[in-house]
Amino acid sequence: MNKKTVFSGIQASGHLHLGNYLGAIRNWKAMQEEYNNYFCVVDLHTITVPQHPAELRANIREVAGLLIAAGLDEEHSVVFVQSKVRAHSELVWILNCVTPMGWLHRMTQFKEKSEKQKEEVSVGLYDYPVLQAADILLYDAHLVPVGADQKQHVELCRDIAQRFNHRYGEIFVLPDALIPPVGGRVMGLINPEKKMSKSEEKQEDSVFLLDTPDQIRSKIKRATTDSRKEIVFDEERPGIYNLLTIYQLLTGGKREQIETYFEGKSYKTLKEELAEVVIESLRPLQQKYFDLTGDNNFLDQILSRGAEQAGARAEKKLRQVTEAMGLR
Ligand code: AMP
Ligand code: TRP
Repeated sequence: MNKKTVFSGIQASGHLHLGNYLGAIRNWKAMQEEYNNYFCVVDLHTITVPQHPAELRANIREVAGLLIAAGLDEEHSVVFVQSKVRAHSELVWILNCVTPMGWLHRMTQFKEKSEKQKEEVSVGLYDYPVLQAADILLYDAHLVPVGADQKQHVELCRDIAQRFNHRYGEIFVLPDALIPPVGGRVMGLINPEKKMSKSEEKQEDSVFLLDTPDQIRSKIKRATTDSRKEIVFDEERPGIYNLLTIYQLLTGGKREQIETYFEGKSYKTLKEELAEVVIESLRPLQQKYFDLTGDNNFLDQILSRGAEQAGARAEKKLRQVTEAMGLR
């Protein structure tokens, strides 16, 4: 039986948080047996904004370690670091030459990120979505499981693939984004109008996967709510809605059951119970992470085998591409 291929990527720009877990990683694990999977720590995407070398090096290892700790296993999934497979850098150049500038102008994430950045915005940041397209297309991925913020980038990838195929023949598979119906956009704790993110200045907004139980309790305790009382799923009340959604995702309960369970209870109780659910959900992952990072070689070996496997597949695709274009 020919399994379909899944590709997804995650940046090494800071600590991973519950949004990454619920919107992406957890789903990658849940579906890994059904597909051939490639999961990539996208360090070349990470350097589109300035990074400190030592921090970047540590973050790459932390992210890769957390992916393994979350249950991605070598039998089903290739886990690797993007910069170790040169084909990504080569294909992005080729795709740059078939991508109209106008398509990149429309990318909302670029607009947001470039507005936030005080220093000069790099060409790399502008080109970020094309590198993402190269990642996906190198592996003939059919499915790209991501959070809702990546939908536009996967659609662009599809457009680029289509344009390439139109010019040079049916070389690329057209991928589809796979976005979870619930959890595709986990919001910040303090500012529930904005998505939870890795950014440094908003530490209190995010529960990081390696936070201690005390940090988790304190962050959830301070989460923004509202001046009402009823604990119900109401999108008009983003703070409570977000807390309940996280609770729902981690307990697997139905919305009505959860509302009944919390009927007549206080926000304080909701927060206390949610904190314990989060702590217990992260405990096995944290334990596994500390076990596996205790042995330095273990992670290195997985990543080096991953890069080898991914590299072989990517090189093959790149040959097909260069041949079709007359570069070979
Ligand atoms: P990033 O941290 O931007 O590299 O994102 C890695 C993966 O996590 C991508 O699939 C994102 O769409 C997903 N993700 C990031 N932040 C969130 C969030 N707040 N809610 C849900 N998914 C998210
Ligand atoms: N841009 C994605 C993010 O920030 C990360 C990423 C890079 C990615 N390459 C990818 C995701 C390929 C899916 C497929 O979340």
